[in-house]
Amino acid sequence: MVEPTLENWRAADDFLAETLVGHDRALEAALAAQREAGMPEIEVAPVAGKLLNLLVRMSGARRVLEVGTLGGYSTIWMARAVGEGGRVVTIEAEPDNAAVAQRSIDAAGVGDRVDILVGRGADVLPTLEGKEPFDLVFIDADKESNTLYLDWAARLGRPGTVVVLDNVGRDGEIVNPGSTDSKVLGTREGLRMLGEDPRFDATALQTVGLKGWDGTAIALVV
Ligand code: DHB
Ligand code: MG
Repeated sequence: MVEPTLENWRAADDFLAETLVGHDRALEAALAAQREAGMPEIEVAPVAGKLLNLLVRMSGARRVLEVGTLGGYSTIWMARAVGEGGRVVTIEAEPDNAAVAQRSIDAAGVGDRVDILVGRGADVLPTLEGKEPFDLVFIDADKESNTLYLDWAARLGRPGTVVVLDNVGRDGEIVNPGSTDSKVLGTREGLRMLGEDPRFDATALQTVGLKGWDGTAIALVV
């Protein structure tokens, strides 16, 4: 039997990525640029990037909102999926990250369909009100603000908007009642909101792989 260790989760994830995702110069260059800039290597795994790409295409999303650009890896995956004439608006709090992401997104050839808005989500999201609704929202930023971002996802979406929330497993800490980790508390509050807020119908899947034991929540704005 293969033991369920982090190393083996990674090996299996590598196999899935090799088998189903393959290699892509622009995406790998974006990761290299992120690493060279000293940014944290917390982008979505290749299999998850591909999942975002498929979700955008399956839902027919043309307008995508991302909270948390980091180095633009997930942004590129989604920008490819919205197609020509589609748009990805992505919010990044760190100007240095945004600059790295902009270069990688341009190098990937999708700069014309991506708007990077630099600032805190709490400040930038209200500026998007009154525009065309977003069809898909990917939340992958500071976990402490998950409920705020989910509220804005509902407000800036429409019935039928798909909402994806990253990192909902957190090594199982979501069921540690003694946790005082603000990221864990924010994650749990986000999940509670997805369960209780009548604007959402949601589920979540735990994952193991490249990023350890984690998970992703998926919601529909109803
Ligand atoms: C963290 C954030 C992420 O978005 C992620 O995918 C993994 C870890 C973090 O802040 O710990
Ligand atoms: Mg994440």
